[in-house]
Amino acid sequence: MSIEPAYENILVRQEGRVGIVQINRPKAMNALNAPTMSEIMTALELFDADSGVGAMTLTGDARAFAAGADIKQMATSSAVEMLSSPFIGYWDRLRAIRKPVIAAVNGWCLGGGAELAMACDMIVAGEGAKFGQPEINLGVIPGAGGTQRLTRAVGKAIAMEMVLNARQLSAAEAAAFGLVNRVVPDERCLAEAVRLAGEIAARAPVAVRLAKEAVNAAFETSLSEGVALERRLFSLLFSTRDQKEGMAAFIEKRPADWQGH
Ligand code: HXC
Repeated sequence: MSIEPAYENILVRQEGRVGIVQINRPKAMNALNAPTMSEIMTALELFDADSGVGAMTLTGDARAFAAGADIKQMATSSAVEMLSSPFIGYWDRLRAIRKPVIAAVNGWCLGGGAELAMACDMIVAGEGAKFGQPEINLGVIPGAGGTQRLTRAVGKAIAMEMVLNARQLSAAEAAAFGLVNRVVPDERCLAEAVRLAGEIAARAPVAVRLAKEAVNAAFETSLSEGVALERRLFSLLFSTRDQKEGMAAFIEKRPADWQGH
């Protein structure tokens, strides 16, 4: 019998094959302190290991996805403490999740909160969502991948304005600049992210995991290395029963019955 961890800063539930993690620190605008980040990562890692789950959604509440890393927790830290603490490493743990994670963003999505959303695989935004990297206002810079992921997503011009001058993006601007996948009415945001995650979770599970790995490799490798990796992953899928099933189903004009192996 598995024992569910007791969470204090998040709410966790499952809808069909979609695992849903909701950041739940409303008094602090969902600011991300160490216990909250630890719980988020534990919940996502448990879903990642659960064959009954095919994709995850990470969300906040109506006012904030997350207003950043917890400033009160960091305010008196020394450089050595920031370097040696596991805190920023929690963001890196998201990179190791192998199933797709879709962020559903309403309200403020700032600093470490924006970095968390950008470390997910897709972002669905409510129309009132606001994205920003306001760290410059605190005398620091983004520290959990913001300068890198934001620049790759929106390009140098907009990233410079956001990081150097704390420019905020509306949801519509974020969509126009390629930061988010789609914008929906605020009250539809989580449902749309869960719907999208559910569609992906219904697909061939091994192919989905390798597809995520291959797309993410585009940010880490040269074109020729990336294409070579893609070729190996593509070929590897021919060892799965689901590849035989998917191609047979096409030829026999019937829906495929995915088994995940
Ligand atoms: C700690 C925070 C917080 C944060 C809000 N709160 N953001 N606490 N860390 N990042 C707390 C406030 O102190 C306040 O607590 C309560 O949440 C409500 O916030 P208000 O400011 O009263 O609300 P409002 O006036 O509506 O303004 C909302 C806001 C503003 C625009 C989101 O709170 C804000 O600017 N927050 C900081 C955003 C930010 O700078 N983020 C980057 C952080 S640095 P009390 O107790 O007073 O009611 C970062 C670096 C990451 O993320 C590096 C990698 C780890």
